[in-house]
Formats: sequence, C-alpha cells, structure tokens
Amino acid sequence: MNLPAEIANTTKEHRLLTDIASRPPGLLAGRSAVVTGAARGIGAAIAVAFAAEGARLCLVDRAEGDGLRETADRCSGLGSEVTTVRADVSLEQDVAAAVEHALERFGSVAVLVNNAAILTNCRVAQMPAAMFDETIAVDLRSVFLCCRAVLPSMTAAGYGRIINIASQLALKGGPGLAHYSAAKAGVIGFTRALAREVADDGITVNCIAPGPIDTPLAGDLAPEQVEATRLSLPLRRIGVPEEVAPTAVLLASEPGGNLYTGQTLGPNSGDVMP
Ligand SMILES: NC(=O)c1ccc[n+]([C@@H]2O[C@H](COP(=O)([O-])OP(=O)(O)OC[C@H]3O[C@@H](n4cnc5c(N)ncnc54)[C@H](O)[C@@H]3O)[C@@H](O)[C@H]2O)c1
Repeated sequence: MNLPAEIANTTKEHRLLTDIASRPPGLLAGRSAVVTGAARGIGAAIAVAFAAEGARLCLVDRAEGDGLRETADRCSGLGSEVTTVRADVSLEQDVAAAVEHALERFGSVAVLVNNAAILTNCRVAQMPAAMFDETIAVDLRSVFLCCRAVLPSMTAAGYGRIINIASQLALKGGPGLAHYSAAKAGVIGFTRALAREVADDGITVNCIAPGPIDTPLAGDLAPEQVEATRLSLPLRRIGVPEEVAPTAVLLASEPGGNLYTGQTLGPNSGDVMP
C-alpha cells in the first residue's frame, strides 16, 4: 500500500515514539558504541556519559598507561559492558582490528565517536612537513579510516550514528594552528559529504566543534595565556569535558538526535557563532 508521504511519516514517527516508550531506561540503553581517544579528556567524559545512559562500550586509545583502564572502570562502575583496545587510529590495520574486536564483542556498532586527536603549535613558515602530515593523519585520516571500518555493519543494520569531534578552530583558525585547523575543517567537510552519502542507510553523521576545554591536549600553557583565552570568550569560561559530553549523548540518542545530520554543534562558550 502506498500511503501519502505525510501519513507515512506520521505512522513512522508514531512507531518510533512507541518504540522509545517501551525501551529500558537510559537514552542509549543496549546501544554499542566505539569511542576513540577515550583514555582521558573529552573522550573519557563521552565514554562515561554514554555508560550512564546504558551504552555498551568499546574504548580505543593508543596511550600507554592506566588512562584507558581507568575510564573503563568508571564506565563498568555505572553498569556498562566495556571492552578496551589499544590502537593507533591513524593506522589502517589498527583501526580494522579495533572495529573487528567491537563487532566480535557486540555484534554491531551503533555509534562511533571519532574523538582521538593531537595538537601541536608551530607557525607555517617553520613547520616541518612531518608535523603537518602527522596532524592530518591522526586528526583527519583517522576519521575516514574509522568511518570506513564501521560502515558495512551500520549499513547492514540500517542504523548508525557517527559523531566526529572537530574544533571551533576549523571555523576561526588560530596562529600556529594551521595544520590542526586544516585537519578539523577537513573533518567538517568529510562529515557533510558522508552524511549525504549514507542518509538513505539510516546513518547520521555529525560534528561537535568544541571551544577551549580544560584537558591536557594543548600541553602546559602559561597562566596568562589561559586567562587571556578565558576573557576573550563571551561566556568568560573555559569549558570542562563533562560540558561537551551531553552534546554527544544528544546526537547519539533518540529522538533527540534523529533530525541532525551533516551538522556541526558548537559547545564553545560563544567564541564562534557561525
Ligand atoms: N581540549 C580542547 O580545548 C578542544 C577544543 C576543541 C576540540 N577538541 C577536540 O576534542 C577531542 C578530544 O580532545 P581532548 O582535549 O580530550 O584531548 P586529550 O589530549 O586530552 O585526549 C586525546 C586522547 O586521544 C588519544 N590519541 C591521540 N592520538 C591518538 C591516536 N593516533 N590513536 C589513538 N588515540 C589517540 C590520546 O592518547 C588521548 O587519550 C580532539 O579531537 C580535539 O581535537 C579539544
């Protein structure tokens, strides 16, 4: 039977809302999610926020040390089923192995958060090509590799939520940050193109472009530099990772995230108002 489009949509919405009402509590209950760069900072906060909403998690990071285990412990303490993989997301074989591990464990990947990144500071005139290449590899190529690895499973399931962590610097740039800004602008362009490519497969693809957030990413900054940044922000406040994580929960959840695709959401203290 061919229903007129408006009626078909209404019926679909009704079914969706009924489904939501009958689900167990937790916005992401039972959903399997891969979060990269989860050993600390924004990735760790997103992992914990997802765990609190009932997601099952595959946490990925290349860092040596206890960070990944500590994030995993916090997530399992919230009742989440968690597995960890040590992998460098700029490397094709590491990404393939990490996603295979998640698929073996959970059978599907419903949500992918591409969060891992590096940041260095160097003006273009002095920048070694290797620094530029490494930033593009870790901050942009990794997004392509991780998306490519999860797409077959998402397409088969007819469902997927991909969330790419960009940066407000993609939109405004910054001195000494041309390589990072270019990689993050690439993430936004990649997101928009992929969003159009996979919309018919039930997959949404979005970006979060945070403003300055208090994490170890930028290394040790002079207190005067931090204060100058703070004062330049309309909200006069540098954010914390727990203020970014809810945007990821929104994009991953239903019905809150349903109508976003190809978008860039900016928890940025008002610094950029695109
Ligand atoms: N902190 C900020 O002010 C800010 C602002 C805008 C955007 N962001 C973005 O948010 C995301 C998280 O940043 P953060 O501030 O939490 O950084 P962070 O340095 O605290 O954490 C990044 C994590 O990614 C991991 N990682 C780095 N390279 C990796 C690789 N090749 N493979 C696997 N893991 C790798 C690190 O080991 C680390 O655990 C990044 O995409 C960053 O660009 C951060």
